[in-house]
Amino acid sequence: MSYPWLRSDGRLRHLITLDGMPAVLLNRLLNTAQAMCEHANGGLALRGRLAGTTLCTLFFEPSTRTRSSFQLAATRLGMDLLNFDIAVSSSGKGESDRDTLATLQAMGVNAFAVRHGRDGAVAELAEAATSGTVLINAGDGRNAHPSQGLLDMLTLRQAKGCDFSHLRVVICGDVRHSRVARSDIHALRTLGANEIRICGPQNLLPDDEVLAGCGVYSNFDEAIAGVDAVIMLRLQRERMSQGLVPSLEGYFREYGLSTERLRRAAHDAVVLHPGPINRGIEIDPAVADGPQSRVLQQVANGVAVRMAVLAELLGR
Ligand code: CP
Repeated sequence: MSYPWLRSDGRLRHLITLDGMPAVLLNRLLNTAQAMCEHANGGLALRGRLAGTTLCTLFFEPSTRTRSSFQLAATRLGMDLLNFDIAVSSSGKGESDRDTLATLQAMGVNAFAVRHGRDGAVAELAEAATSGTVLINAGDGRNAHPSQGLLDMLTLRQAKGCDFSHLRVVICGDVRHSRVARSDIHALRTLGANEIRICGPQNLLPDDEVLAGCGVYSNFDEAIAGVDAVIMLRLQRERMSQGLVPSLEGYFREYGLSTERLRRAAHDAVVLHPGPINRGIEIDPAVADGPQSRVLQQVANGVAVRMAVLAELLGR
């Protein structure tokens, strides 16, 4: 499958999806992100890197981690920053997403990190953007969250090394509605993970090609046995009102990650969760805050990954 988001020189044009991203590019982004880690918490060393360019965080849905880390990443690289606040914007007067993009482009914005509730919305905006403007999908519907996928892979690399050929990973929870799960599956497949196990209640599992090559489980005790990494997903509470999850207690019993259940994984298994966490619903607080948790490392890696993405896209 050809990956449509490349320039003629092989560099990334927009970051829309990890699905089909060439391994060489995926690894380059991860290598750059690893190198960015020492600058992600502050310092002035890279402030000249993207000076004179502007990032707009254009979020049509709420966010804590993704929006904040894009803002910090841009700042660490010396970019100007425009934080689009939908609540007080002219979107409320009916201005279309395309007109919003065009308006902000006309003010000299070079890069947009866009979160949108609709699958494919960011790709459509990327097609509409003027040449030279770059778009980053900061999560669209249930489709993709590529920068989260990258930071998850960076976190796994730091824990388990760059060679994924022995890595067994389980992704557990509401996989059907999870853009994070999709981006993680795409990246793990490209990086050659030994085993990708998908686990959740039948009605929260996807029924499309994303599962190709994955092991599919409805029993978490079986799915977690011997794995090197456990990626837990947030249970989106509206699934309760939709009747997809009969009770939160029952969900935790079957699909929650407790200390006892984690013992079934490899002794040095690591636990990831993209956040926000529902403590006591999909994960026991003792696990979320425990020694095998990499949740806050994921958050820290988010800044480094987004610095790498901006540097790649803006070509410096
Ligand atoms: N992981 C993630 O996307 O978190 P936010 O919704 O807080 O950005």
